[in-house]
Amino acid sequence: RTPLVIDTDPGIDDALAILLALASPEVDLQLVTTVHGNVELAQTTQNALRVLHLAGRPDVPVAAGAAGPLVHPLPERAGHVHGAAGLGGVELPASPATVDPRPAVVALADLLMAHEPGTVTVAPIGPLTNIALLLHVFPEAAARIGRVVWMGGSATRGGNVTAAAEFNAWADPEAAQAVLRSGLAVTMVGLDVTMPTVLTEAGIERFRDTGGRVGKTAAGILRQYVDSARDRYGIDGVVVHDALALTEAIVPGTLTTTRRDVVVDTTLGAGRGQTLVDRRAVAGHGVEVAESVDSAAAVEFLVERLSSYGT
Ligand code: BDR
Ligand code: CA
Repeated sequence: RTPLVIDTDPGIDDALAILLALASPEVDLQLVTTVHGNVELAQTTQNALRVLHLAGRPDVPVAAGAAGPLVHPLPERAGHVHGAAGLGGVELPASPATVDPRPAVVALADLLMAHEPGTVTVAPIGPLTNIALLLHVFPEAAARIGRVVWMGGSATRGGNVTAAAEFNAWADPEAAQAVLRSGLAVTMVGLDVTMPTVLTEAGIERFRDTGGRVGKTAAGILRQYVDSARDRYGIDGVVVHDALALTEAIVPGTLTTTRRDVVVDTTLGAGRGQTLVDRRAVAGHGVEVAESVDSAAAVEFLVERLSSYGT
């Protein structure tokens, strides 16, 4: 089983991603670190604790990380998409667990130093602030990461939070730039593959009806997201971006990737947060950019795994 860390800002699709990982025997979720993003850090941390408790895994440690981006404060968060408290208006029962006393970067470094180099997968599904800090504060630990599977960016689809930028890249472009240039083995799971991967209402009904209490709660968390997707993008169903990144972390090779150099726009203009994917020959370290996906298979994987909570 691959040791796994999820770095997250729950977030509706973050919650789904955590539940997917916990239902997957291929990976062993050993740590959740939280970051600012969809909502404020205190709320993402509380949500992470509650999602783990919902899944019956309050033993997984949750360590809180950065409360804001590295350099420039954010003008807005994403409460309009995820609900003011981040989980689509659903109030999950409080967890008996408390937050780990260590800062996220310390918890991450401890875990990485306790494993053989190259064995741990880190799946950041929010702004990359914590991972950028890890690179700066504990470079030796960061170098031991096996794979970084990041949900963020966009190669060809423009943005979702602005015309140019995907939310996680936009929410800390300086951090994204540091991580994408770090030389770590990064896979960028961007809007190119997430947007076509739509979880339909029929799929949601399947795990609502067969996935026990967890499946029913997951369907409830998604309800507001379904409405938001219909209003904003005219999609019937939802795009659970972060769950697709986790699918790639759980089953490497789910997505077809190409090695590319990626530059993040860190200027303060209209392009801020845009991921510029270079289509010329790779000259730098390069990252694996996810370019195509079997969306039907990915959605089926998610629905089956969430349904398995009922058995
Ligand atoms: C990303 O932004 C957040 O709102 C989602 O949780 C996901 O990580 C999609 O652009
Ligand atoms: Ca997220």
